[in-house]
Amino acid sequence: MHSLLEKELSTFESRTPASRAALKRAEPRLPLGVASNFRSYEPWPLFVKDAKGSHFHDLDGNEYIDFNLCFGALMAGHCHPAVVKAVQQRLEVGTMYGMPHTLEYELAEEICQRFPVDQVRFGSSGTEVTMHAIRLARGFTGRDKIVKMEGAYHGVHDAVMVSMKPSAALYGDPHRPTQVPAGGGVPADTVKNTLVAQFNDLEAVKRLFAEHPGQIACVIVEPIMMNIGICMPEQGYLEGLREICTREGTLLIFDEVKTGAKLGRGGACEYFNINADIVTLAKSIGGGFPLAAFATRREVMDMIAHHKVFHAGTYATNPLVMAAGLAVFREVLTPEGYAHIGKVGEALVSGYKQIVKKNGIEGYVESAGANGALLFYAKRIRNYREWLTVDTDLWRLYWFGMVNRGVMPQPYWWDEQWTLSVAHTLADVDRHLSAFEELAPAIAQAQQESSAQVVA
Ligand SMILES: Cc1ncc(COP(=O)(O)O)c(C=O)c1O
Repeated sequence: MHSLLEKELSTFESRTPASRAALKRAEPRLPLGVASNFRSYEPWPLFVKDAKGSHFHDLDGNEYIDFNLCFGALMAGHCHPAVVKAVQQRLEVGTMYGMPHTLEYELAEEICQRFPVDQVRFGSSGTEVTMHAIRLARGFTGRDKIVKMEGAYHGVHDAVMVSMKPSAALYGDPHRPTQVPAGGGVPADTVKNTLVAQFNDLEAVKRLFAEHPGQIACVIVEPIMMNIGICMPEQGYLEGLREICTREGTLLIFDEVKTGAKLGRGGACEYFNINADIVTLAKSIGGGFPLAAFATRREVMDMIAHHKVFHAGTYATNPLVMAAGLAVFREVLTPEGYAHIGKVGEALVSGYKQIVKKNGIEGYVESAGANGALLFYAKRIRNYREWLTVDTDLWRLYWFGMVNRGVMPQPYWWDEQWTLSVAHTLADVDRHLSAFEELAPAIAQAQQESSAQVVA
C-alpha cells in the first residue's frame, strides 16, 4: 500500500473513533455491522449522526459536504423543506391505507407527462420495480430469457444477480461473456435464462438473438452505466438496442433508477431521444423516501389489468411516500431545479478538469446531469472489463483524502459517482475543489510512483 494512502487512512482512523465503536457494537447483531453490503468498507464505515441540505455530520461531529447523497437518491438534498412539509401534513391523516387514494393518479400523471409511457405501477425499491418490469416483459412476450449487460446492477432479485461484478477469472469470452451468478442462492436455472453481453457491444447482443430466436423477452439496460463509475453509451448503441428489440418483438427496459430523475425531466428517454418500452424509476424520485415505479404503454400494462401478470404490494403507494414523491416532482425536478444543478455541476466539472490537468493526473472527469465522477484511466472506459482495471488504492487515496478534508466526494466504492442536489451551492463546490486541489499533488505522486513500479 502506498505510504500516502497509509497516511490518509491513519488520519481517517484518528478522526472517526465513534464510527469505529458503533461498528463494533453493530457487528454482533448485523452481518458486517451494516444493513446493506455496499455500506461496509475498511477500516470502518462512517456512521451518520444527522444531515440537512447538502451537509451531514458523523458520530464524532465532523461535518461533510455530501456528494454521496445516499447513492444518488437525494437530488432533493437532505430534508428538502417541500418534502418535509408534505410528509408532515400526511402524517396527520394516516400513514397507510391499503386502499386507493388520489395521490396515486396524481403522481402517475406526473410520470406520464415526462416519460414515453401511458401507465404506472409503484413499488418501494429499485429492486422491486426491475423485478416487476422483467416479469411483465416475460408475461407480455411469453418468453423466458432476458439480456443484461456484464457488470450492470439492477438490484438484488435473482434474474439480475448474474454477471453483476464477475471476476476476470470467470467472465470468459468478451464477445460471449459467461453467465456468472453473483453469489450463492441464485438458482442455476435462473442463471441460464439471463444472457449477458458487454455494454457497448451491439454485435454480442445480435449474436444472442441469433442463438436464441424468439426466446428473449427483454433487454434490460441502464442507459448510462452508473455502476461502473459513469460509462456512456457510444454513438448508436442505444439506438441499435432499440432497433434490435423492435425487430425481434422484445421489450427494451431502460433501468432509470439512477438516471430517471437526474439526467433531466424526461430521464434517459428524453436525453437520448429513445423510447424504451418499460422504464423503471426509484432513488431520487422519492426525495429520501422509498418510492419506485415501473411504467410502460397501455398495451403492456394491460397484462396486469387483464389479470395475466400479477402485481401487488402492501407498501405500494404508501401515502407518506407518495406525498414526498409529488413534492419532488413539483418542487425539485423543475426547470429551475435542473438549471441550478447544471450551473453547480458545470463549476464542479470544469474545476476538476483544470486540477487534473495542472497536476498531470492520468484520468478524466465524466459527467451527465446531476452525476459526475473522476475516473482514473488513461482513456474513456467502454465497459465493465475496462472499468475493472482501475487502481483501487489510488482511488482510495482520493476518497479518504477528500473525506479527511470534509468532502464526501461520492459514495465509497470506485463503481459509484457524485450526485449534486438542489441544495448544493457554488460555495459547496468551491470547498470541494479546494479539498481536491490540496490533495491532487499526492494523487499525482502516488500514480507516478506506482506506474514506475509497474515499469520496473
Ligand atoms: C440502476 C439500478 N437499478 C436498480 C437498483 C436497485 O435499487 P434498490 O437499491 O432501491 O433496490 C440500483 C441501486 O443502486 C441501481 O443503481
